[in-house]
Formats: sequence, C-alpha cells, structure tokens
Amino acid sequence: MDLHALLCELEDFGIANDDAHAERERRMLNITRDTGELLAVMVKARAARHILEIGTSNGYSTLWLASAAAPLGGVVTTVEWSEMKYDLARANFARAGLGGAIRALHADAGQVLAHAADGAYEMVFLDSDRSAYVAWWPQIRRVLAAGGVLVVDNAISHREEMAGLTAAIAADAGFTSCLVPVGKGELMAVKHPA
Ligand SMILES: C[S@@+](CC[C@H](N)C(=O)[O-])C[C@H]1O[C@@H](n2cnc3c(N)ncnc32)[C@H](O)[C@@H]1O
Repeated sequence: MDLHALLCELEDFGIANDDAHAERERRMLNITRDTGELLAVMVKARAARHILEIGTSNGYSTLWLASAAAPLGGVVTTVEWSEMKYDLARANFARAGLGGAIRALHADAGQVLAHAADGAYEMVFLDSDRSAYVAWWPQIRRVLAAGGVLVVDNAISHREEMAGLTAAIAADAGFTSCLVPVGKGELMAVKHPA
C-alpha cells in the first residue's frame, strides 16, 4: 500500500480512536506528522542503520523511522508491551511493505534495554512510559553509539514529567542537548563522538 495513504489513514484513525477512548491503554497517542518528518530527517542526517524505538503503539512513528531507514539498509527495532497495539502495528508494517526494515518486539522496554549491547544504536526514539525514563537513562546512554542521537517526545506537552530526564541529560558531560518546538516538543541529545 502507498505509504502516504497509510500514514493519512492512521492519522485519521488515531484522532478518532483517541477521541472515543479515555483509557490510556486504548489510545494510540501517536506523534504528530511534523514530528514524523523530523524523525525522518534525523535518520537520514545521521545515516542511522540501527534504530531503537521505545513505544510502538500501532506503528505510526515506526513507519516514519523505517521509511527513512529502509533505503539505507537500516532496521528499526521497536518495542511495545500491549498485545493489542503490537498486533495492530504488525498489520500496519505489512501493509506498508516495510516489514523487512522493522524488528517488532512484544516486550517490556526495560528488559530490551537491559539486554542490548553497548553502542548498539545510532538513534533512539523514546515515546513511552515517562515515569520510567530516569530509571532507563543509564541503559539508553549505554546502548547509544558514539555520535548517536536520542529523541524524546512530549518534552513540552509533559515538561514536568520529563524534568528528571531532561536534568540528567543536561548534567551529563558526554551529551549535548536541546529542546525542539516541533509537535509535542522534542528533547534531542547527541552522545559525543568517542
Ligand atoms: C505514546 S505511545 C507510542 C506512540 C507511538 N510512538 C506513535 O507515535 O505512533 C506509548 C506506548 O508505549 C507503550 N509502553 C509503555 N510502557 C512500556 C514498556 N515498559 N515497554 C514497552 N512498551 C511500553 C504503551 O503501551 C504505548 O503504546
């Protein structure tokens, strides 16, 4: 299926679904289109071939990452613990014809991070359970390659919930970070080259 048409369909579905359901578990909580465009630019700019996404939902943001990574021969590893959302995402990846560029994991992100190799990823996109971010930070820091980029969604929409992670990154001499006012606000940080 044409990727543009699928992305438009998912945008409409996400808005309608999230308007209809108050429970967080039922909501898709997708990134905005301009955030997807930013992610695609970052993948291309970094020429990232090993990408980790934490928080797949139904795969909208994964499609932006994978469509940029696929021509580079890259693979997006994406993690989701909700079986319902994982199943939706798998169906969307197949519809997009991007299944070969996506490694979808039905798992707890903390476990995936703990088992990932040092420096395994040139880019990490974090869009998940914000209450876990500070605890995950040492592992995210470890799995990022030198020169690797971290992008975190909701840095403006949920600034207070993000404060701990934002402060930890700002205090880390091995990273340079900034806040990008795109979509819900993207915290971006680059791990200094070795
Ligand atoms: C904001 S949504 C992700 C939206 C997605 N990035 C997009 O833009 O299409 C956050 C997702 O993280 C998942 N999640 C939360 N905690 C998790 C964990 N510990 N491990 C794996 N997935 C988790 C939730 O089930 C939810 O689907």
